[in-house]
Amino acid sequence: MENQGTRDQWGSRIGFILAAAGSAVGLGNIWKFPYLAGENGGAAFVLLYLACIVILGLPIMIAEIVIGRHTEKDPVGAFRLIGGGRWTIVGYMGVLTGFFIMTYYSVVGGWTLGYIVKSATGAIGSVSGTAMSESIFNAFIQDPHQMILYHFLFMAATVFIVYRGISNGIEKWTKVLMPMLFIILLILIVRSVTLPGAEKGLSFYLYPDFSKINTKVVIEALGQCFFSLSLGMGAMITYGSFLSRREKILSSAIQIVTLDTLAAILAGMAIFPALFAVGMTPEKGPGLTFNVLPVVFSKMPYGSVFATLFFLLLFIAALTSSISLVQVVVTYATDEWKWSHRKAVLTAGTLIFLLGIPAALSFGAMKDVKIFLGNTYFDFMDKLTTIYMLPIGGMLIAICLGWKYGLEKTMHELDPDTKSASLEKIWALTIKFIAPLLLASIVGYFGIYRMIR
Ligand code: TRP
Repeated sequence: MENQGTRDQWGSRIGFILAAAGSAVGLGNIWKFPYLAGENGGAAFVLLYLACIVILGLPIMIAEIVIGRHTEKDPVGAFRLIGGGRWTIVGYMGVLTGFFIMTYYSVVGGWTLGYIVKSATGAIGSVSGTAMSESIFNAFIQDPHQMILYHFLFMAATVFIVYRGISNGIEKWTKVLMPMLFIILLILIVRSVTLPGAEKGLSFYLYPDFSKINTKVVIEALGQCFFSLSLGMGAMITYGSFLSRREKILSSAIQIVTLDTLAAILAGMAIFPALFAVGMTPEKGPGLTFNVLPVVFSKMPYGSVFATLFFLLLFIAALTSSISLVQVVVTYATDEWKWSHRKAVLTAGTLIFLLGIPAALSFGAMKDVKIFLGNTYFDFMDKLTTIYMLPIGGMLIAICLGWKYGLEKTMHELDPDTKSASLEKIWALTIKFIAPLLLASIVGYFGIYRMIR
């Protein structure tokens, strides 16, 4: 379809892959994945998660990139072209979801900044136990000034990179940040598995206990797969819209998904051995990273150094994800409203900062303000997006592409000279049948069950 010629493009295939992997690898991998695995039977959860990635994650990833490059549009423009009429709403829902996720994502991104400071100044390396670590964390997230300041700084860093554009900003930065992230991760793994007593953590992580698997765990793994791969709201449609016609989508998508999965698995390899080595248990839930890891760091030699490295890692991961979320909103404003890039970035950044303030205050000043069914603003935004908006979005993406637009018109977007015709058939089958059905069950079951609980 048409290309105005002024639209930015990824400078190289590897630039696109790293930027997309940067979007995928985020707090979801390093903060969420390990605690979910810890709560849900270790290796058994990991296997289930891998199954979701292959059955559902990869096909939807391909679908989003295909839609993006085929239309060369923001999500709203893309759905106007491939669906038209009411289907355009799917695009609007995506942009809105981007806004909503950013309101709390930026707050947690701010926590990582705060913890870099705490680690570098020795406050983390010297905690005496879980109680002290918890009180540091609670005091931190209850303090309105620090919360808003760090939320602001995280947003500012995001805006700074998005402002520089696709090839000069996002691509350039992710090319530096992503290798850094993997190097830090590897350093932490080496440290972790060489601690005395690390084997217990490794075996928890690598030997599956299938007795822990139940419906809730299955559904949790599915939701996590979606969030972690940045699917369901048009982030990959947006990134795909800047992809040159020359590039192969099938193999690119496989590489992006592999990098994301690798990062999640490696994050577990860094965390569990260290956790077991210092005699702690893994089922600590969301507090795992911020409450438990400081204790682990304080018990290892040069703990402050490793703590600083770890939270730097978490910050980098969060930053390369948040730029993709903001880019969706920005692309919408520049494509649909013809806003200047500058105006779009600054307006989106300011709006997200303001909408994020209630999330920043959700653990302190506004902790008793319940939005819906007893949820704070922060929890509400988290649940609304992860449980409802992303799976519904993913389902509609698959249905619109598979049934409304028709896959025939997009098959050439996959690898033109591919030898993997059977892979393409499996993909088509998944987009038309398997993905809509599986996702409908997530929305139905997971949605009703978790929101009420
Ligand atoms: N995938 C990121 C993570 O794992 C978060 C993220 C970035 C995201 N962009 C997204 C999630 C788009 C859903 C949709 O932390």
